[in-house]
Amino acid sequence: MAWHGARPSAALVATAFGMLVALVPSTLTPAHADATHGTGVALRSTVSTADLAAGSASTVAQTGAPRPAGVEPAAWTVLTPITAPELEPTAEPAPEPAPAPAPEPEPTPAAPAPDCAVLACVALTFDDGPGPYTGTLLNTLAAKGVKATFFVLGSRVAQFPDLAARTAAEGHALGSHAWSHQSLTSMPVEQAADEIDSTTVILIQTVGIGGPVLFRPPYGAFDEQVRLTLAERGQPVVLWDVDTEDWKNRDVGVTTHRAVAGASPGSIILMHDIHESTVAAVPGIIDHLQAAGYTLVTLPELLGPTEPGQVYRSR
Ligand code: NI
Repeated sequence: MAWHGARPSAALVATAFGMLVALVPSTLTPAHADATHGTGVALRSTVSTADLAAGSASTVAQTGAPRPAGVEPAAWTVLTPITAPELEPTAEPAPEPAPAPAPEPEPTPAAPAPDCAVLACVALTFDDGPGPYTGTLLNTLAAKGVKATFFVLGSRVAQFPDLAARTAAEGHALGSHAWSHQSLTSMPVEQAADEIDSTTVILIQTVGIGGPVLFRPPYGAFDEQVRLTLAERGQPVVLWDVDTEDWKNRDVGVTTHRAVAGASPGSIILMHDIHESTVAAVPGIIDHLQAAGYTLVTLPELLGPTEPGQVYRSR
């Protein structure tokens, strides 16, 4: 497998500590201003047309003059002058009854972050990407208006930088899943630090940064040395409390059931966007969780501020 792209220099690491990617959704355009205004115009236009038609009919009925020879009735009717005084423009029109003022559409700023102290929030998390199915998953999330969190491998970001950038640009949170997906507890500490730092650097280079980089160790495996290494870098350890085992079952129904049945308020749900069956399960998972009253959020929204080296499994 060609997972191992060239690692970035660690020169940016010092500035990278303590950062995370969580982009604010782009501002929406107000959609109702023109429509509201257009209704008023259309109403006036309708009234004038009705008056005009009534005036024509009445004029025709009152004149009773003989029709000029050779002129068809329709043409004659149209040419009859209209004298209805109410159609004359007046300098000062009678004040119209004030229409109820339409509420001004507010310019829509970024939607306020959901308050997970009040709402039943859950976070969908996807590990090991980006990969060939990530684009499809992003399409699904966009169509459903749902934001998720992606724990990416540095080697995969090197391979699919555009997908990583798109993920961030569409308002999802990105965290680090180390560079090569080797267990950090079975390598020298210097090598583990390099796995962590090189991924932080490529996240900065590829998607920009803001806040502490959330870290999820490969296989969820960490020891005190790994935890302290992360703490020195300002990075929390983010695990999960709902394991769909999607990598093992590779089944839409089983993955969906495990995600939905396992969820409780504050849950972190573990999935992998490198499996086609997982990506196929996501629309149903979202529908079921929302029908059950859950609000789907990113991990920064679910957890709020995090502590360096602290271990999180749920809110
Ligand atoms: Ni993984």
